[in-house]
Amino acid sequence: MAENYKRYTITAALPYANGPVHIGHLAGVYIPADIYARYLRSQERDVKFVCGSDEHGVPITIRAKKEGITPQQAVDKYHEIIKNSFEDFNISFDIYSRTSSQTHADTASGFFKKLYEDGKFIEQTTQQYFDEKAQQFLADRYIVGTCPKCGNENAYGDQCESCGTSLNATDLINPKSTLSGAVPVMRETKHWYLPLNEYEPWLREWIVEGHKQDWKPNVYGQCKSWIDQGLQPRAVTRDLDWGVPVPAPGAEGKVLYVWFDAPIGYISATKDLTPDWELYWKDQDTKLVHFIGKDNIVFHCIIFPAMLKAHGDYVLPANVPANEFLNLEGDKISTSRNWAVWLHEYMQDFEGKSDVLRYVLCANAPETKDNDFTWKDFQARNNNELLAILGNFINRAVVLTQKYYTGAVPERGELTELDKEVLAQLQAFPATIADLVERYRFREALSELMNLARLGNKYLADTEPWKLIKTDAERVKTILNIALQISASLNILMEPFLPATAQKLSDMLNLPVGKWAAAGASDLLPAGHTIGTPALLFEKIEDAAVEAQVQKLLDTKKANQADSAVVEPAKENITFDEFSKMDIRIGTILEAEKVAKTKKLLKLKIDTGLDQRTVVSGIAEFFKPEEIIGQQVSILVNLAPRDIKGITSQGMILMAENADGSLAFVQPSKKIVNGGGVR
Ligand code: MF3
Ligand code: ZN
Repeated sequence: MAENYKRYTITAALPYANGPVHIGHLAGVYIPADIYARYLRSQERDVKFVCGSDEHGVPITIRAKKEGITPQQAVDKYHEIIKNSFEDFNISFDIYSRTSSQTHADTASGFFKKLYEDGKFIEQTTQQYFDEKAQQFLADRYIVGTCPKCGNENAYGDQCESCGTSLNATDLINPKSTLSGAVPVMRETKHWYLPLNEYEPWLREWIVEGHKQDWKPNVYGQCKSWIDQGLQPRAVTRDLDWGVPVPAPGAEGKVLYVWFDAPIGYISATKDLTPDWELYWKDQDTKLVHFIGKDNIVFHCIIFPAMLKAHGDYVLPANVPANEFLNLEGDKISTSRNWAVWLHEYMQDFEGKSDVLRYVLCANAPETKDNDFTWKDFQARNNNELLAILGNFINRAVVLTQKYYTGAVPERGELTELDKEVLAQLQAFPATIADLVERYRFREALSELMNLARLGNKYLADTEPWKLIKTDAERVKTILNIALQISASLNILMEPFLPATAQKLSDMLNLPVGKWAAAGASDLLPAGHTIGTPALLFEKIEDAAVEAQVQKLLDTKKANQADSAVVEPAKENITFDEFSKMDIRIGTILEAEKVAKTKKLLKLKIDTGLDQRTVVSGIAEFFKPEEIIGQQVSILVNLAPRDIKGITSQGMILMAENADGSLAFVQPSKKIVNGGGVR
């Protein structure tokens, strides 16, 4: 490692505790962060990997309202679900904290206070949107409108999720309250602003000039364009009742803006983790790295650094390797449309396969552009890569060692040219992979890991020890010894990427997972060492398993289409007299049969209280005759009789139509006497 840092503080974006986490979160933030943290620990670096739930802000209160629970109940619920998902996928946080903790309230409040006392804020009374119906100021996601940049009609008061622009509520065109739908009015209120404009020259020097080379082009580009557009003072307080109270005189009923308090959550998490927390945040020999998704770039590259700078004694992020977005089967992942693979559901459907998803999401990570997750690709990568390459190689090496030597690592004899070449190649892998990981190129790093497994596979395929055992048993010892050395290195090198598999392999080799520096050596498993029992690292994923997942998504799509179907516009008004001309009664279906040679028609006999009459109704696609006999329906009895397929239909059954065209009877909510009028 060329770097001279004494320690590393690695943060992963605090997920909002307003819903479970999905594959997009994992691919964009937590897997790369975890690989990096595990890699550094393997390099025996001093690492603190911190995260926690983001439990404040409007996303939380909106969720709570939707579920009819308090914000505290909402965050308690989702914090638990999210935390468990991270554990399921072996994301190795040193601490997973939460921003509703006391430590956090104290830390965030203290941070604000220091800036306040040092005169770093400007205090401003302005007109802000207020919902008179809900009696509330409309901050952030409480207000939607048209984005002035891209025209998206559902941009929020703080950000447009379509084009990523960060907004002020007053930038929105046609603003509307998400609380009541009302058009808001303007009302005066006082807030505290961080004058980002004053930090512009410094930000330009630090990022535009200082990080052109080492920050990812997508991150650098976004920052530069922000700075080039000119920075404005940014409010860091809100008129809300959920959040950290603003510790300033005259700030009753106001809380810190969630994007002010949440990043401070990284600091409070570290405080909860270690009494030495200051070393990890204030010592210049600390490397601070933020793992985030692209929608968080401005907050981590501009606003939070400006806050840290204003505070004066903190280190700044050395890098912010933000990823682009992961799509799902060609569509943007969306919580509200339920278009996602939820991690807790994946774990139920694919028990014991956390590493398969880790592998697929890393191999296909949206590092430089948006990428697509498909179940077909998931299956192919498991079957053709994990199973056929990595699993197959390890399995051969371990099974043959058991079979020929009852598990004792055989001695190497004289090496052939091929052996030497393979050992030389093996030796080069750790540095190659390390270099890629250190440059945040996790996909390529993973593909190099697989290349090492390929090398092992090819070596066995070329030497064919299973044939040679009959003619040259001595030579087989050397071959299997080398195959086992490759396996032991694979074990070390795979650990950051596939931690559960690494543990399994370690059991199989009967050798603790070693440190990075040991990888590549040709003597990790000394001759005579007894390995453990072979077990399969991966299993085939069958068509049925992925087809079920695809079906689940198709069902979601259908449900969404039904939800979003356009409702017909209202018809012209009629008078009450016109309405009362219709004689609608409750009746009971006595008989029902299909009308011959038609698909849609049922012939019904109805007791209308007035008489028993025949009605022909176009409902055969939705009801089986035998199932509707005895049901009560509404019937228009004074509709002029009509001949339908040679049958005289006397009246019409009222039906309600769903978005997908399916039909339901309009029935009384309790039993009504036949002939009872409907008015
Ligand atoms: N909760 C935010 C999101 O999901 C991320 C917060 S990151 C932090 O987009 F820095 F503020 F913690
Ligand atoms: Zn936009």
